[in-house]
Amino acid sequence: MQPKLIIHGGAGSSLKGKGGLDAVRRSLHAIVEQTYAKLQAGADAQDAVILGCHLLEDEPRFNAGTGSVLQSDGQVRMSASIMNGPQQRLSGVINIAQVQHPIDLAQWLQTSPDRILSDYGGAQLVRELQLPIHNPLTDLRLQEWLEERKGNFSKDMAGVVAEDSMDAEAGRGTIGVVALDQQGQIVAGTSTGGKGFERIGRVSDSAMPAGNYATRDAGISCTGIGEDIIDECLAARIVVRVTDGLALEAAFQKSFAEAQAHQRDFGAIGIDKTGAIAWGKNCDVLLAAYHDGDRIHDTLEAPLGCQVRSS
Ligand code: GLY
Repeated sequence: MQPKLIIHGGAGSSLKGKGGLDAVRRSLHAIVEQTYAKLQAGADAQDAVILGCHLLEDEPRFNAGTGSVLQSDGQVRMSASIMNGPQQRLSGVINIAQVQHPIDLAQWLQTSPDRILSDYGGAQLVRELQLPIHNPLTDLRLQEWLEERKGNFSKDMAGVVAEDSMDAEAGRGTIGVVALDQQGQIVAGTSTGGKGFERIGRVSDSAMPAGNYATRDAGISCTGIGEDIIDECLAARIVVRVTDGLALEAAFQKSFAEAQAHQRDFGAIGIDKTGAIAWGKNCDVLLAAYHDGDRIHDTLEAPLGCQVRSS
């Protein structure tokens, strides 16, 4: 089967300035290129998802791993999950600190009897695995937090689409990867620093089936306001619709129409077992790019709504 790949680096209200757009495009395309090459070389979907998530977590422009936003108390806490479609198995971590790649913990937990760990348990696992301590804080994120502290954290969330300027509008950052490999297996991975300036203990959608879900039939990764994604149970909703027989496009259209009626603010990417690639958004910008087996495309200047590229 011809492999397929789609990734995202979050969603938001704008990408101000051409410089911002071009830089984001270059970054996303380079990550798609490298990750798709692995799938083409015969890697399974889970290994490709891990590579794609590593590259996105290492890119400080995106709100996951290095470059994660700070919570209200000035600390970085990250969440990530892997959903293996053939196994129909979710694993993940919630609010963990001081690791370079939160997605690695999610991968390790795939074969553990306890598959989703939160802060204290995640820290224990980091120690057990002897992962090196990594500080994901960047100057830009610290400056954002200091600015917000002056305003007593009056913004809802951090400016999580990192542009050159501190004036970047608020975004809804997360990273995600969905891959279909040559064996027809689908895996989805999602990783985030959260929405920024949130209360301690707030739980992101990214390590829940609401934000990251897959079966043999389809896989979805979401980005946007976690509370909205959870209220729509978006990833699982789209995947279950496909598993019940709806085409991927129809499942996206129906789920996003419902979300629009509820004034939700998010985006989603996905792939089904036929190789169809889809994305949808009801916010202005979705930072997604994909490889359809032929070439790389992106959604950076796409209009609101949903689109599907059939196999
Ligand atoms: N979607 C990421 C978050 O709200 O935490």
